[in-house]
Amino acid sequence: MGLFITFEGSEGSGKTTQIKKAGEYLKRKNISFLITEEPGGTRLGNELRKILLNKSSLHINGKSELLLFAAARAQHVEEIIRPTLEDGKVVLCDRYSDATIAYQSFGRGLDIDDVRWINNFATRFLTPDLTLLFDIPVDIGLKRAMKRISRIVDLPVEDRFESEEIEFHKRVREGYHALIKSDPERFRTIDASRGIDDIHRDVCRYLDSIIGT
Ligand SMILES: Nc1ncnc2c1ncn2[C@@H]1O[C@H](COP(=O)(O)OP(=O)(O)O)[C@@H](O)[C@H]1O
Ligand SMILES: [Mg+2]
Repeated sequence: MGLFITFEGSEGSGKTTQIKKAGEYLKRKNISFLITEEPGGTRLGNELRKILLNKSSLHINGKSELLLFAAARAQHVEEIIRPTLEDGKVVLCDRYSDATIAYQSFGRGLDIDDVRWINNFATRFLTPDLTLLFDIPVDIGLKRAMKRISRIVDLPVEDRFESEEIEFHKRVREGYHALIKSDPERFRTIDASRGIDDIHRDVCRYLDSIIGT
């Protein structure tokens, strides 16, 4: 089996920036890897991504939101993540089940045991070997995310979660902190308020320690 590594954290914490740089790092080391993201990674996942991330007039309640993320994840695990791990590759995934606990349970207020059950059902208990948690104060992360969004010229824009109130984002961050406490072996917390290169150095160090090179 390969290694399953997830990148987690709130909006604008730098997950997408860092996952790309991590890929470049693994490439330089001649390590076979795949970069993928949630929701997404499959045709169904990409359709669901549009529904879940693009702000529109469509009303999605908390339970439906949870189930749509879970549907995307079930497809992603079966079609992409498990086969790639079985090929012996490293899978770098931008968000996974922890995001569902942080956003749909801590953020939206859904029962955490229900969310865990749905996550386990969707993933058949596939758990990351390592989770890098990009931790950043909510205001700094949102400022970065809004700057990124403002640069996008073609519509639609992925801003449904970014548009939530500040209290929602604070609960999400608390959710991530609670997750770290509940599984300290799997998580590595990275101070994401620093510069891109400093953060990347930490990412490389954690990758080295698990890949063993
Ligand atoms: N360490 C950093 N310092 C300043 N800006 C950053 C940093 N990391 C990423 N950014 C910028 O902030 C925005 C959000 O980063 P992104 O990687 O898309 O975050 P996420 O995927 O976690 O939402 C992007 O415009 C990106 O270029
Ligand atoms: Mg991103």
